[in-house]
Amino acid sequence: MTTDQQPNLQPTQKVARYKTTRPIFAPTLNRKTTETRINDSLSLQLRPFSPTDLPHVHRLRTQPSVMINTSTGIIDADLSVSSVWMARYLPPNDATTFDLMIWVKQSDASEHTDAGPPWEHIGVLGCHMLSPVPHIGYMLRTEWWGKGIATHALKTFLRLWWLLPRREVEIDPSSMEDEHELHLTRLEWNQRQSGNAKSLDSSVTPETDVVPEILLAEIEERNFGSIKVVERCGFTYRASESVVEKNRQVTLLNYTASRPAAD
Ligand SMILES: CC(C)(COP(=O)(O)OP(=O)(O)OC[C@H]1O[C@@H](n2cnc3c(N)ncnc32)[C@H](O)[C@@H]1OP(=O)(O)O)[C@@H](O)C(=O)NCCC(=O)NCCS
Repeated sequence: MTTDQQPNLQPTQKVARYKTTRPIFAPTLNRKTTETRINDSLSLQLRPFSPTDLPHVHRLRTQPSVMINTSTGIIDADLSVSSVWMARYLPPNDATTFDLMIWVKQSDASEHTDAGPPWEHIGVLGCHMLSPVPHIGYMLRTEWWGKGIATHALKTFLRLWWLLPRREVEIDPSSMEDEHELHLTRLEWNQRQSGNAKSLDSSVTPETDVVPEILLAEIEERNFGSIKVVERCGFTYRASESVVEKNRQVTLLNYTASRPAAD
């Protein structure tokens, strides 16, 4: 993987060992469902993954327009491929991932039955990778695009995310050989100037800095819908990176969010 950072992030910038935090995830079976209203006619649930979700995951991951912006770029060939992907979010792998299923329910009065309209699975979102920095990702079935659902779901997710318990961790860039990993680590390291009073104290050496944790969104530069979503959810553009994905050179934009000041 090659990188080509813009001037706001110098590829030669050294990153010292630093302390930051990482969330602690409860096992997926102990996670709760969160329900909110998107608007007068649409409600949203963020539900933890369950082993019975495979047909929903496969239905989502066999829409070509959904998959084009993923790292594989192609639809899942069969249920076993979807099952391997889904295993990332089930025990024991749920110790390092925090993805949730997106369900919606329409509440058009004319469609109400006694039982009410059913919930429909329409997507997933969450943190699929914690290392070297936590990554966010999301995808929705195409028939639900352009209704503000991803924006609403991500805002809801972020509230859950920053409330998770945290542990302190030490990041040691000297153990990283991959330039991509170093690039992402640099994004977090650079937070020490923007958000942490302790690190502004010149008596504190870089080795003892506690750098504010970031949440990273890597977005292909032509994915304008996704760019709008993160910008509306308070993410800030930090840098770009040219990488080889699916046998072609693509430019990924790096957007990051930090814990809101009021939390
Ligand atoms: C990206 C994605 C999650 C957005 O979901 P969504 O529910 O449609 O998003 P929202 O409606 O909350 O917001 C998207 C905004 O971008 C706009 N938009 C969408 N495509 C656009 C495009 N090609 N150019 C400009 N704006 C675009 C929408 O119109 C909307 O803005 P508006 O509210 O002003 O109309 C969805 O398109 C998706 O699942 N894509 C495939 C997977 C993917 O790309 N995931 C992200 C990987 S980083």
